[in-house]
Amino acid sequence: MTLKFHKEIPHLAPSLLAADPADLLKGIQLAEAAGATWIHLDIMDGHFVPNLSFGAEAVRSLRKSSPLFFDVHLMLSNPHLHYLNFIDAGADCITVHVEPDYPLETTLAQIRSRGCAVGIAVNPKTELASIRHYLPMVDLVLVMTVEPGFGGQSFIAKCLEKVRDLRVLREAESLGYKIEVDGGVSIENSQDCVSAGADILVCGTAFYKSEDPSSFQKHISNIKL
Ligand code: DX5
Ligand code: ZN
Repeated sequence: MTLKFHKEIPHLAPSLLAADPADLLKGIQLAEAAGATWIHLDIMDGHFVPNLSFGAEAVRSLRKSSPLFFDVHLMLSNPHLHYLNFIDAGADCITVHVEPDYPLETTLAQIRSRGCAVGIAVNPKTELASIRHYLPMVDLVLVMTVEPGFGGQSFIAKCLEKVRDLRVLREAESLGYKIEVDGGVSIENSQDCVSAGADILVCGTAFYKSEDPSSFQKHISNIKL
């Protein structure tokens, strides 16, 4: 099975959480117009993180109107009970967190077996050691660069150490995952993210509150690897 996963590296994934919640479709269209090929969709349960966002029905509805790669980030205590709804709704990649207690390995395998790319996410305080075992099983590793739950927080630069380590591990063990950074990413810190080894830059507030969102993809495409 071929996962339609590989895109230009590095690239931007605008986070729809920062778009107008009353007009998510407009938010997606803005990302498309800015040249993005991915859209990042944050799903929150008010339990694993202290906030709620939107659900699978919103994703399904947006899917009908957009060709973008749907990068779904599940911030849920029970992702194994919900991932199927998001695959059915049109997700292209589903990322689950390592921190909650649920059958993680089975969940990763089941997501992939349904032709969806799969990612694993780590919070800022979570050590890489906790995901080492899962690295050969995933297409994406999402490194949180803020505490998950809210957009608009300040970037935690120390998390880039994990990005560097993931890059080294990927080479050393000939693994295939892409590395994504998520939280507080802006044009100002994008070079640091890419220099550390990030392939995909999730960008919410800085993208949607910018006067010129189209400058983001252009800027990121011009970053020196
Ligand atoms: C935070 C989410 C992020 C968020 C990023 O929990 O996972 O994807 O939308 O937003 P900014 O770029 O505003 O930090
Ligand atoms: Zn996210």
